[in-house]
Order: sequence, then C-alpha cells, then structure tokens
Amino acid sequence: MISKTLELNKKKKRISNSKKFSIISYGCQMNVSDSEVVASILESIGYSYSDDINNSELVLLNTCSIREKAEQTVRKKLESINAVKKINKNLKVGVLGCMAERLKEKFLEEEKIVDLVVGPDAYRDIPNLLKEIEFGNDAVNVLLSKEETYADINPSRFNTNGINAFVSITRGCDNMCTFCIVPFTRGRERSRDPKSILKEINELVNNGYKEVTLLGQNVDSYLWYGGGLKKDFNKASEIQRRTSINFSKLLDLVAKNFPKTRIRFTTSNPQDIDDTVLETMAKHNNICNHIHLPVQSGSDKILKKMNRKHSSDEYLRLVDKIKKLLPDCGISHDMICGFPYETENDHLDTLSLMNKVKYDFGFMFKYSERPGTLAARKYKDNVPEEIKQRRLSEIINLQLKHSFENLSTYIDKYSNVLVEKESKKSKDYWCGRNPQNIMVVFPKDGYKIGDYAKVKILSNTSTTLIGEAIKK
Ligand code: SAH
Ligand code: F3S
Repeated sequence: MISKTLELNKKKKRISNSKKFSIISYGCQMNVSDSEVVASILESIGYSYSDDINNSELVLLNTCSIREKAEQTVRKKLESINAVKKINKNLKVGVLGCMAERLKEKFLEEEKIVDLVVGPDAYRDIPNLLKEIEFGNDAVNVLLSKEETYADINPSRFNTNGINAFVSITRGCDNMCTFCIVPFTRGRERSRDPKSILKEINELVNNGYKEVTLLGQNVDSYLWYGGGLKKDFNKASEIQRRTSINFSKLLDLVAKNFPKTRIRFTTSNPQDIDDTVLETMAKHNNICNHIHLPVQSGSDKILKKMNRKHSSDEYLRLVDKIKKLLPDCGISHDMICGFPYETENDHLDTLSLMNKVKYDFGFMFKYSERPGTLAARKYKDNVPEEIKQRRLSEIINLQLKHSFENLSTYIDKYSNVLVEKESKKSKDYWCGRNPQNIMVVFPKDGYKIGDYAKVKILSNTSTTLIGEAIKK
C-alpha cells in the first residue's frame, strides 16, 4: 500500500515537473487532427500540454500554405512569439505542417526564431529532433512517406469538448488541381487500414464521443488494399483487389459498427463520389446528410485550366442525383474567384451555377498564386486585385442570400441537434448542428453537452437557426 502511494506520488511529481508544450493549429481540419497525433508523440516522451506559451518549453505551430494570407498569419504569430521568447528564454519554437514542408531548411534562415521544422509525414521523428536541438544542431525533417504513417498512434484529444472528434482516413492528394499546394506539401494519396480506423472510433465511443468526422483531402477516393499509394493500386494482386475496401464500404462498416454515433465526412471531390456512397448514406440514419462538395468555378474553361476532373454539367447532374436520393441533404461548396484568365462571363457562369445549386453555405476565396504549382508556372495571375475583390463580394452576397432562403425553409420544422457548446452570444443558449451541418441555437432548458435535442425552428439568420427544444 505504502509503496503504491509512493509510486503514485512519484508519478504525480513527474507529471507536474514534466516539460510543457503548446501547439497552435492553422488551416484545415487535417491539421487539427495531426496536432493530436503530435501531442500524443510528445506525451509519450514526458511532455504535457499547456495552452499558455509563457510557461511552455516548446511551442509548435501547425501551419497552412493554402493561400498567401494563411502563411502571413503564421509569420505574424512568429513575431509575437519572439516577444515571448525575450522573457521565456528557454522556449523552443517548431513549425509543422504545410509551410514546413514547402520552405524546408529555408525556414531556419528566414525566421531566426525557429528551431525545428517538421513536415506532415515526419512527426514520429520529433523526439529525435528535439535531442538534436539540445546538441545545438539544425532540426529539420520534411521527408514524405508512402504509407499512411500514423495509424497506430492514438491521438491525444488535448483540446476537446468530448463530443466531436476527427478521424483521419487518408493522407495526401493525387488530384493536382493546378492552383493547389497540398499535393506538394502533403504528398501522394494513401489510405489508412480500416481496422485501425474502427479501433480509433471504438475508443472514442467508449470515451463518450457522439460524433466522428472522417477526414481526408479526398475521402471518396479512399482505397485500402493492404497499404501503399493509391496510384499503385494497378500493381495490386488479384486477392488484394478482391478484398479491397473503398469509401462506401468503409462508411457502411463505420455506420454499422457504431449505430449510435453520428458519422460525418469531408472532403468529397465531385469526380470520386459515386452512387454507392449516396446509397450508403441513405441506408444509415446515423450518417449525417451533408456533403461538402467543392466546385471552385462554374465555368468549364476555368475548370479545365484548374485541372478539375469534371465539367459544370457533370457537377450539376451529381447535385441533382444527391437531391433525388437524399432529399434533405445539406450541400456546401468551396469557390475560387479571379483564377488566371477568368473573364466576366466565366464569373457569371459561377453565379449561374450557384443559382442552380442554391448551396446551404460555402467557403469562398480569391485566387492566391502558390509557388511551384502548375498555375504559378504556366499561367499569369492576371485578374486585377480589385476585380477579384468585387467578384468575391458578389459570390459571398449571393451565397448569403441562398443561405438565408434555405435556412428559412426550416422554420416550423424540427431539427435533431447534437449539443456541442455554449452559444457565443448568450450563456443561456446551447449551440449544436443539425445533420445538414447547420448551426442551431436554443435555450438550455435542462439539456447538457452531448445530448440530442429535438429543436423546433422559430427563426433564422443566414448562418444560424434559432429554435426551442421540446422538453426533456
Ligand atoms: N480537398 C481539400 C481541399 C483543401 S484546400 C479539402 O479537404 O478540403 C480548401 C480549399 O481552399 C479548396 O477547395 C479551394 O477552394 C481553396 N484553395 C486551394 N488553393 C487555393 C489557392 N491557391 N487560392 C485560393 N484558394 C485556394
Ligand atoms: Fe487541393 Fe484539389 Fe487535392 S484542391 S487538396 S489538389 S483535390
């Protein structure tokens, strides 16, 4: 008994004396998910998470390169960390993620404050790299992998509400959209062993999580045939082919194994989402009826220059099919305006496509040239900034109009809402999402985080439904 208490005290002491790390994620959900893997790796060597960089020995920025602005945000953060380092002199600074992969060793020259540069596939090497820093050596690892890489690591959910979790199912992207830096920074597409996916979800469910989002740059292209790159599937053996698992099979497996868990997935690429995925969604109540379906432009000329693998007609036919098979499915988009050579007519094609689809919401961007991409090498960034800005405003305004109209169709109907957090506007209201991925707020009335509430919708803005839950 005494020795047990001693052990416990020793353990407690070790935890309170352990080195602290902070980690800040920028950009996509994949970075949030990767940061949880990194946290788990650091915890395995005795670090513990802190949200206060003033008291940390190590701060990591998990960076994004998708647009120039995203990189500027990271550089500004490094400036502010510089000020902290003047007081907290032992603080080591690491950059992870896409900017690390893009800039490699150059990062150490450009930003003197940076000690550690680690690309998205090299996080397992962080413990060794930290030792290198102690020896006063440069610590850079930006090797990209051919394997999924982190399947066996149980992510440490250090910043969680205990309800929603991301589970990554693929890494990298082979699509080579001409504007996009991701294939360069995250490498080739690989899928994760379905067994390890199910194991991770099982653990989440046992720990009380209610919703998982399956993550990948292109989830519908998921293909497990025993490991390896997606592009090498043609070299797979007969038995590997026969036993391979594609996205609809994986989705079916997850939904069947965890019938009480809400399942979401993102992102879908129009050319890869097939009928079987839609049928699987229709078959399972616990798969949320929402598809994030980036289109990027409504002009066929621009889609071709972007190397998107579909025309606007094919996209519209897919949307029709979704609306037919899943009548209450939420559909959202990503859109880029001001791509090289985009004319006013191309822009009008984009507005016209939006008018046909009437999306529930979307993420809309001005084209930002990324070094090394095909668009940067071959095309001139020739749409003037003020025209890009005006087109973006028109796209955003049209989206707001559609969002408002779509959301108002929910009035007087009931939405099934998973309570996630307190509303930002009032501590008397909960906030959660309905299956279509629309925010719903309603008075707390005895509900708690993690409950499902049947909410009668009474009013709406263009981003939020406001209602009242039926009494528990
Ligand atoms: N398939 C990925 C896409 C990641 S990038 C996913 O999982 O979501 C997210 C969005 O950023 C893209 O769909 C595109 O609309 C936008 N984007 C990518 N590169 C861009 C660039 N160079 N300029 C402006 N927007 C860009
Ligand atoms: Fe980027 Fe296109 Fe892949 S947007 S992440 S290259 S699907």
